[in-house]
Amino acid sequence: MRKPNLGISTRTTMGKRWRKMDCFRASFSTLKKDVYILPVLVFLLASCTSNTNKTAKYTKIDRRVNALPLKVKSPNNNKTTDQKVILGRLLFFDPVLSGNKDVACATCHHPSSGFAEFRDVSIGVNGAGFGATRTFNTPNKIPFVKRNAHTILNTAFNGIDSLNNYNPEKAPMFWDMRANSLEEQAIEPIKTMEEMRGLQFSETEILVEVVERLNGIPEYKTLFKNVFNVEHSITIENIGKAIAAYERTLITNNSRFDKYMRGNDTIMSLSEKEGFKLFKKVGCINCHSGPMFSDFKTHVLSVPENDKITFIDDGFEKQFGFRTPTLRNLRFTKPYMHNGTLPTLEKVLEFYEDLRLNKSRNSNVAQDNIDSLAQGLSIKMKDFSLIISFLNTLNDDSFDKTIPDNVPSKLRVGGEIN
Ligand code: HEC
Ligand code: HEC
Repeated sequence: MRKPNLGISTRTTMGKRWRKMDCFRASFSTLKKDVYILPVLVFLLASCTSNTNKTAKYTKIDRRVNALPLKVKSPNNNKTTDQKVILGRLLFFDPVLSGNKDVACATCHHPSSGFAEFRDVSIGVNGAGFGATRTFNTPNKIPFVKRNAHTILNTAFNGIDSLNNYNPEKAPMFWDMRANSLEEQAIEPIKTMEEMRGLQFSETEILVEVVERLNGIPEYKTLFKNVFNVEHSITIENIGKAIAAYERTLITNNSRFDKYMRGNDTIMSLSEKEGFKLFKKVGCINCHSGPMFSDFKTHVLSVPENDKITFIDDGFEKQFGFRTPTLRNLRFTKPYMHNGTLPTLEKVLEFYEDLRLNKSRNSNVAQDNIDSLAQGLSIKMKDFSLIISFLNTLNDDSFDKTIPDNVPSKLRVGGEIN
């Protein structure tokens, strides 16, 4: 967590300096034998300076956001194969991974709601129904999950920077970045009491239990053996690997914005382009940067607490920092923020307007601790609709929505969601 975001401008300045040197060196080497070297040198230096200033200016504007890459990287020790993806999908939809066999990953990350859910905070164990209409069964001793479910779409790119560099083995996960990589993340919900584990098993017991259960299902035994090519291939690690391989296929890299950035100038309307300019000008881009529109850092903003949660959620390192979320597919990630307390994009923008007016919206967060980049946003109400029309160009509905007809455990596909 940091206060002012100097990363981008520092890099640009460095780049400028290097380019200036390179330009100068290149021209100098072709002129070494020139007798009138001094006046030529002065001229060269001047022309290199003005040239690189121009490039630097464009670099700064354009390199801060980008289209998503067309291809996805996977870790060296977990190459994606078709069979692994099929196995991962079955596991993702199979409630056999949960203590009471009632919750699957898909319960909260379902393709029909863009692999997120239209809920403020999730209901996992001992719930029934789907999305906004999901409720706890009675009687109930299980609390709400403390946070809003991210979409799985594009999590394969988590950690990507504005030059499209990323390392899938270190990809930050969760609102407080407490897991690295999809492989590591996939095991966490299985261990979490309110999400999938329930009260019947401890954190260690559930992992043993899940491996035992899968070993008792011939279809899984065959699938794991074919994918991992070793005896005893049903392990917690391989469960994580298969799920992660499937998640890496859930990509939306062809939004209208991506097409625009790849050169289709007419695909965005004038007001959407105007909204893009404002997005950069008011300073949203200082944190929502790179092709994911996230710097993958945590920031303190003072989002209000959610009344459904009985304790105070103090986020990253107990400092009330939360990771900048992607702005792709906002259509599916509402209600917004780490605890879903802001129901619409207008409410999110009003929230930022309050920060500019020095109003903390969470009594646990002192005014001085709010990130200066958030307080410094020059957002005005008249800009709202243009910015929102730009944000809508980041929606992309063309992702894999395949739901398996059956899962090998013969339990209900996706858990108790009907
Ligand atoms: C009960 C609902 C629920 C279930 C079941 C569930 N999740 Fe989640 N998921 C969430 C919530 C809530 C978060 C955000 C938690 C946080 O950040 O602290 C989340 C976050 C994630 C993220 C992080 C995305 C990002 O950008 O950081 C991934 C990946 C993910 N879940 C995958 C899975 C997988 C795989 C499973 C099954 C093994 C699963 N989830 C089961 C609710 C759920
Ligand atoms: C200081 C960094 C920073 C700046 C500047 C910033 N944001 Fe954010 N944004 C965040 C963080 C961090 C969150 C998550 C906060 C939380 O949940 O507690 C967030 C959340 C959001 C969300 C919710 C997304 C979701 O799926 O829940 C939207 C939408 C959003 N920001 C849009 C904007 C817009 C538009 C601007 C410019 C007006 C902007 N942000 C400026 C850091 C920033």
